[in-house]
Amino acid sequence: MNPFKPKIRRYESLPSTNNEVARLAALGADEGLAVIAEEQTAGRGRLQRTWISPKGAGLYFSILLRPQILVDRWPLITFIAALSVSDALLEACGLHTDIKWPNDLLAGERKICGILAEVIETSTGRGIVLGIGINLTGEAFPPELMSAATSVADSTGRPADREAVLSALVNALSRWYVLLHESDGPEKVLADWISRSSYASGKLVNVLNGDDMVSGITRGLEADGALRLETETGLISLRAGDVVSVRSSGG
Ligand code: BTN
Repeated sequence: MNPFKPKIRRYESLPSTNNEVARLAALGADEGLAVIAEEQTAGRGRLQRTWISPKGAGLYFSILLRPQILVDRWPLITFIAALSVSDALLEACGLHTDIKWPNDLLAGERKICGILAEVIETSTGRGIVLGIGINLTGEAFPPELMSAATSVADSTGRPADREAVLSALVNALSRWYVLLHESDGPEKVLADWISRSSYASGKLVNVLNGDDMVSGITRGLEADGALRLETETGLISLRAGDVVSVRSSGG
């Protein structure tokens, strides 16, 4: 692959950094174009949810990628994003995190970061807008998020240094992205993700996909990042959904 050199554009306010990167990609932006905003007025999460993004309370970051790997491995982009955030929070804030499939970062079992990867078609080919939202302070969490979410400041007891997190994130993302393009890169990414996730194996979970709820014990990942689940009726592989509740399992 070509040298990967992210270039950051900064904004005070945007509806959504993902939308801005998609707009610039449509105008022919190169891979590595990244956007960060102080606030988002229409931040988006997975499954059509809203990502509440008050001024200064989070790192709202998106980057344009044009991966040169097999399309069936593109889901691993969200896995390198999770690994990069995990590296960045450890390096910049001394914070250890867990990864919940498919790509939530947790601190003390509460969500501290969400990842939204969207495939786009442009005149120069297909690409991915990778969006990352990291909660830096919890001041603006609405009451319904209080028990499920946390922030860097709440988890470490210290104010978060946004620039330090951003710089560690961009460096980590560059490293993981280059690694993903190596011949054994996908296997290494999956192995590292599994080693950092308490959800990868042996956890009794309920997974919600649309209106369907499926229960089972996690049994690792497929090569494309699908979650293997041992259910009452056999082993299945889930490619979408949300782990909504967990219990530790004996098996
Ligand atoms: C999720 O967990 O549902 C994913 C949340 C992703 C939020 C980030 S913040 C930066 C980027 N811009 C958006 O509108 N969304 C992503």
